[in-house]
Amino acid sequence: MDDHADNQPPTGPKAFFLADDLAHYVSAHSSPPDPVLERLIERTRQMGSVFSMQISPEQGAFMSLLTAAIGARVAVEVGTFTGYSSVCIARGLGPGGRLIACDLSDEWTSVARAAWLDAGVADRIDLRLGPAAETLAALAPDLVVDLAFIDADKENYLVYYEALLAHMRPGGVILADNVLWSGRVVDPDATDADTLALRAFNDTVVNDPRVEVAMLPLADGLSVIRVLP
Ligand SMILES: C[S@@+](CC[C@H](N)C(=O)[O-])C[C@H]1O[C@@H](n2cnc3c(N)ncnc32)[C@H](O)[C@@H]1O
Repeated sequence: MDDHADNQPPTGPKAFFLADDLAHYVSAHSSPPDPVLERLIERTRQMGSVFSMQISPEQGAFMSLLTAAIGARVAVEVGTFTGYSSVCIARGLGPGGRLIACDLSDEWTSVARAAWLDAGVADRIDLRLGPAAETLAALAPDLVVDLAFIDADKENYLVYYEALLAHMRPGGVILADNVLWSGRVVDPDATDADTLALRAFNDTVVNDPRVEVAMLPLADGLSVIRVLP
């Protein structure tokens, strides 16, 4: 479970590292949420403080775009919550694509299931409830994944990364959210388990000869990791 909820604004752009006016400008110049996603934002907002776990609309726009740009057909998501990122990925996959969505919570993903129907993408999403480390370990050995998104418990990011790497096609992309953790990754006084895990994840990825990585200061930090051919 993401304990980041209290550190994120309840409304407005979720751009931690931009002044408000610039954050609004970025938001206004990225493809906006359509009515389906607007309904999902409102539905999740009604759930209280957990709303802050939802990815930002700018991230969603980026994820749809990237999924389509690399021609992804098979994707895996670790951390589905109420479904915003899964709708964006599924839309990028297009008809006939397949997204395996992993989460622990039946309650939160029931909202996601309704959003998938609303978006007309339910037929391309396969929800797997349970600890994601177990779900990933149980993937068919011959499953080849084009795009993956990691957005669940921070202490397991490296576990998810290694499990996903075993399935990624050469040239495939892994996205990892919250890699800046509100800036705590560079705060020497921050020594909590999540911050340590994210530092370890970021250090491992940048030194991993199997991949190349661009860390984007988008929302709370999004790493774009491409598996080298
Ligand atoms: C930050 S939220 C994901 C937000 C989502 N990507 C979105 O676009 O709204 C993190 C999710 O990870 C799930 N989660 C936490 N620990 C998990 C675990 N060990 N296995 C599977 N899911 C987990 C939580 O239930 C929660 O729904």
